[in-house]
Amino acid sequence: MTDPALDAETLRERALTTLTTARARTTLLTSCVDEPDLTAQHSPLMSPLVWDLAHIGNQEEQWLLRAVAGRDAMRPEIDGLYDAFEHPRSERPSLPLLAPAEARAYASEVRGRVLDLLEGTAFHGTRLTEAGFAFGMIAQHEQQHDETMLITHQLRIGPQALTAPDPDPAPPFTGPSEVLVPGGPFTMGTSTEPWALDNERPAHRCEVAPYWIDTTPVTNGAYQAFIDDGGYGDERWWTPDGWAHIRQHGIHAPLFWHRDGGQWLRRRFGVTEVVPPDEPVLHVSWFEADAYARWAGRRLPTEAEWEKAARHDPVSGRSTRYPWGDADPAPRHANLGQRHLRPAPAGSYPEGESPLGVRQLIGDVWEWTASDFLPYPGFQVFPYKEYSEVFFGPEYKVLRGGSFAVDEVACRGTFRNWDYPIRRQIFSGFRTARSAEGA
Ligand code: AVJ
Ligand code: FE
Repeated sequence: MTDPALDAETLRERALTTLTTARARTTLLTSCVDEPDLTAQHSPLMSPLVWDLAHIGNQEEQWLLRAVAGRDAMRPEIDGLYDAFEHPRSERPSLPLLAPAEARAYASEVRGRVLDLLEGTAFHGTRLTEAGFAFGMIAQHEQQHDETMLITHQLRIGPQALTAPDPDPAPPFTGPSEVLVPGGPFTMGTSTEPWALDNERPAHRCEVAPYWIDTTPVTNGAYQAFIDDGGYGDERWWTPDGWAHIRQHGIHAPLFWHRDGGQWLRRRFGVTEVVPPDEPVLHVSWFEADAYARWAGRRLPTEAEWEKAARHDPVSGRSTRYPWGDADPAPRHANLGQRHLRPAPAGSYPEGESPLGVRQLIGDVWEWTASDFLPYPGFQVFPYKEYSEVFFGPEYKVLRGGSFAVDEVACRGTFRNWDYPIRRQIFSGFRTARSAEGA
């Protein structure tokens, strides 16, 4: 048994570190452009950056200062402005939002009070404070908006505002292109990860038939072969909805790509460059991922297949937190946390591979799965139904594994993301699978 008091102190330390890391990233993302850029809407799909900033502060105030500490609202008149359900993203620029300086001051005032609260809060007693859950939830929330803000930066037309070193070049990957995952039950989801969100719970046994899964995410080079083969013009590969969507919108390549003479170029954070063939493909919709897989004679993995590949240890029979085991992510395991502003070449991070040898399940690109976003058996809303429950249903497809843009606090083997099948401004890619013979 671990000492519960020591555990609480470790978690408190972790809450402090992760809140601080998140705020450093938020500050960078909202100080690398000028004021007009912060209040402008760069895409109808996104909020102005200054909305994300004050929304981060407002959620932190609501959950930590009000729900945990029982304080009164600091500025009750602004709650509605920053309620994601009251105003769709496209409306947000026309709201009387806090100006950048006010939004910064509000978020830092909330944070100052939260750091005092963190020192004085027992990490047990209520479900919100148990193991520091509410602090972990709010750190994850801020990091999720940091990924959202990075998407806004990618959509923004203008000179480069953000830079980061590239991932290390990798020797061409020479391992097998796919791995056989044996059939049988495994434990999906978690009941023990302290900061897991409601949709990841509870742990439950899940039966999976044997299947093959790609060792690495699908690369730009492989995806170009689909394009070159006329994949976007061949109805056979597409679902009816997918076909109608690409026709109506004239889609013929991943978002941010364009053809220049004989080669594909892409725009990445304000810079145009040749599409690197060995890098996982990015900015594809579920429809495109699904069509590619069908063209390749394969299919997208189900969510259970993805998670079994990422967590099942065939030796112990246990499900681990990450493909490499239970240790928290380190830079040698995965490309996370906006350390780099692009995926690493396919086959990178041998130390992050699963026991069966599947690579880059965590980090690099969010991976579309075949599955709708649905509750697990025994799901219970916690702490609010607008995080997960209102999104359950067939309109949303699940993405797994996290991208280069997500922080480790919001990324683990059980973490579930979701979006509409048409979306591709997100840092989305995929890998493919096929059922094993005789399954
Ligand atoms: C889990 C990424 C779909 O951004 O809509 C942020 C995360 N929820 N604030 C989103 C979230 C509330 C959510 N996703
Ligand atoms: Fe939010």
